[in-house]
This record gives sequence, structure tokens and C-alpha cells, in this order.
Amino acid sequence: MLNPLILRIENLVIKYGDKPTLLDRLRHKPDTRFTAVDHVSFDVPTGGSVGIVGESGSGKSSLLRAIMGLNPIDSGNVRYQGTILNMGAYSDLRKSMQMVFQDPGTALDPMMTAGQTIAEVLRVHRIVDADAIPDRVNELLDMVAMPHDTADAYPKDLSGGQKQRIAIARALAFNPKLLVADEPTSALDVVVQAQILDVLKDLRARTGLTILTVTHNLDLVRYLCDSAVVMHNGKLVESGPVSEMFSHPRNDYTRELLAAAPKLAR
Ligand SMILES: Nc1ncnc2c1ncn2[C@@H]1O[C@H](COP(=O)(O)OP(=O)(O)O)[C@@H](O)[C@H]1O
Ligand SMILES: [Mg+2]
Repeated sequence: MLNPLILRIENLVIKYGDKPTLLDRLRHKPDTRFTAVDHVSFDVPTGGSVGIVGESGSGKSSLLRAIMGLNPIDSGNVRYQGTILNMGAYSDLRKSMQMVFQDPGTALDPMMTAGQTIAEVLRVHRIVDADAIPDRVNELLDMVAMPHDTADAYPKDLSGGQKQRIAIARALAFNPKLLVADEPTSALDVVVQAQILDVLKDLRARTGLTILTVTHNLDLVRYLCDSAVVMHNGKLVESGPVSEMFSHPRNDYTRELLAAAPKLAR
């Protein structure tokens, strides 16, 4: 049966700094660690599109990295398809969640063509038979609206937006159920941002892919997401359907964010 909640974040706490040792605790030395994510809980429905918004430093990237198993969790759980994920465990379950990063320039290997980048995933992870790889590469290029001859291009020959599409195609090569994106368009100019958003929106409509995006761009949330989570100083201050939040923000900070939006967007 399809799990109605693909992801549950349960009381998640992420701290940076050295964990107090037993001796420190016996000596009642205060815990001086910095709390980047402070008891955050929210759900991502299967097939949904959730945006996490908040200003720089509010803990958004820390939260995403913890979800992907790239950041240690101090307490709380990341529950994915009903299973609590432990950091570092690279299971098949984890392969079905893939991440796209802010800077497409550093995400791609400069020595590999776009086609090789995508084909490598298919080959190494044995996602399709070897003789089916070229066709699958073309299908994945179709999914991100890139012409097939892009397969021969190296990252240096591609624009920022094209590189981000290849990074998305590579993530899609895993047949993910959940796509996690950290500021996927903020390194791109406005026209290209809109194209990437269309790619994501289209993918979601066609494949039922669940999308969790971090952004400080409220236009992106309005366009792509059906619900949003607002973070401020590591805490979740508001969450709910985008339509309600934009028309009736309950929290003062959310109101401030919305009031500042014309400056952030476009
Ligand atoms: N590896 C780290 N070590 C120490 N502090 C960190 C580390 N990564 C992030 N931080 C701090 O945690 C807070 C949240 O950062 P981050 O999750 O990157 O926020 P956001 O993505 O919302 O800008 C910031 O104050 C940042 O300086
Ligand atoms: Mg960030």
C-alpha cells in the first residue's frame, strides 16, 4: 500500500560543535554547541511538493543534509517510507531519495560529458541493462527538456541552467520517489530559474515525484509547492498549505518574510 506520508521529520535537532564527553558532563561543563535545527517536525505527503523557506542561516541546508544522511542528527528522527533512517546507511531506500544542489557548476565532473555523467549512474547502480543505457539517457534528457545531442557536451560547454538540468537528470536516473533540492535556482538568472521550475513542475505532474525544496524565493514556493514550512533561527515557526500561508500568515516572522518578498523575488 502506498504510504500517504513519504517523509516524516520528527523532533529533529542538529547541533554543531564538539559533543560534551562523559567527563564534561560529570564536571557539569555547559554544552556550548550551536543548535542549527531546534526540534523541527513536519510531514511530506507522497506526491506532494513542500517548500522550506527562511532567511540565510535559519538551518534549511542543515535540515536537508540530515534528511539525506549527510549531517549527523543530535536527536529526533528522519522517517522515510515508514523507516527511520540512520546516518550513512546507503540502502536501496536511500537511493530512492536524491538531492539537487544549489551550484550546478560544482555538482558535475568537468571531465565527463553530460551523457557519461548520466550513464555512469545507470551503469554503476545497475539501474538498466547495459544495452538499454543509451535509450535511457535520451529519455532522461527528454525529462529535463534537453536535446539528445547535449549528451556529448562537457560541463564547460553548458550554461548554468543546462548544467542544473543535467544534475536533475542524473538524480532522476535513480528513479527517485523523493527529490530534495537545496536552492536549486538561486545560482541562476530569473528566466532560467523559471525554466528549471517548469521542468520540476512538469516532472511532478507526469511522474508523481515528491519534491522537497529549500529556497528563500517565495515565488518559487508559490509556483511549485502546495505546502510550506517556515524556519527562523533553527525553529519551525509556521507550516501549512501555501494558499493559506500566503493569504493568512499566522506567524509574525512569516508576515515579515512575505512583506519583504518583492525584494527577494524578481
Ligand atoms: N558545518 C557547520 N559547522 C558549524 N556551524 C554550521 C555548519 N553548517 C552550518 N552551520 C551554522 O548553522 C546555521 C544554519 O546554517 P544552514 O543550515 O546552512 O542554514 P541555511 O541553509 O538556512 O542558510 C548557521 O548559523 C551556520 O553558520
Ligand atoms: Mg542553505
